[in-house]
Amino acid sequence: MSDAETPKSEVRDAGEAAERRNFYGRHKGKTLRSSQKDYLANDLELLRLKNVTAEENPERQILDMTQFAGKPVWLEIGFGGGEHLVHMAAANPQIHLIGCEPFVNGVAMLLGKIRAAGVSNLSIHPGDVRDLFDVLPDHVIEKAFLNYPDPWPKARHHRRRFVTQGYLTALHRVMRPGSEFRIATDIPDYVRQAHEEVPVAGFRLVKEAGEGQHWQDWISTRYEQKAFREGRLPHYLTWARD
Ligand SMILES: C[S@@+](CC[C@H](N)C(=O)[O-])C[C@H]1O[C@@H](n2cnc3c(N)ncnc32)[C@H](O)[C@@H]1O
Repeated sequence: MSDAETPKSEVRDAGEAAERRNFYGRHKGKTLRSSQKDYLANDLELLRLKNVTAEENPERQILDMTQFAGKPVWLEIGFGGGEHLVHMAAANPQIHLIGCEPFVNGVAMLLGKIRAAGVSNLSIHPGDVRDLFDVLPDHVIEKAFLNYPDPWPKARHHRRRFVTQGYLTALHRVMRPGSEFRIATDIPDYVRQAHEEVPVAGFRLVKEAGEGQHWQDWISTRYEQKAFREGRLPHYLTWARD
């Protein structure tokens, strides 16, 4: 069928789906150290959450949550080097954490930290969080963390930010009513956009705090340290899912 013959609704749906799956970040960075290659070759398969990607689960069947042995499940979006994810897993053995990160160097760094900490109450999706959203049941995430999301500073790129309706409504669907969503960022304009967009998706602001007023169980991340070095200040936003 040519474009001219395709019904308008199908054209729109296909276009929207493609746009939703555009990923503008990096998948790879510096050459991995041999120890990191070893972690990826030997540890990732055990910790990797199965049936998340369209390749592995083309029918987009919903994940079986009994694999988490009845533990509450928390989600970290874009864990970077994994310091916050491992810290939370070690501090909360009664919880199962899922971390998503498409940047392979970050995944390798996380795997090194997992070996060092000896934690096992976490799973990794080494890819886009939207693939995970597709296959999570409703209301299963008890807490979600978005630490130093990509800032996309240019105005024409603001629609790539996580704090836009495509990401936020999917997050809202998978979170339990009343559960907590935390955002840490060093970008004032990101705070502005969060205030505009996050409530529209069904979250209520509980607390906004600044430097030195982070969450009690917070651990500073690589990006937060970079922000401090470069003279930018943190903002810590806590939301409740309606
Ligand atoms: C600025 S870094 C911050 C990393 C870490 N949270 C920290 O505070 O150090 C943002 C991270 O989000 C990841 N990211 C971007 N888009 C993502 C997506 N759609 N799903 C999962 N992670 C994503 C990037 O790969 C990157 O590692």
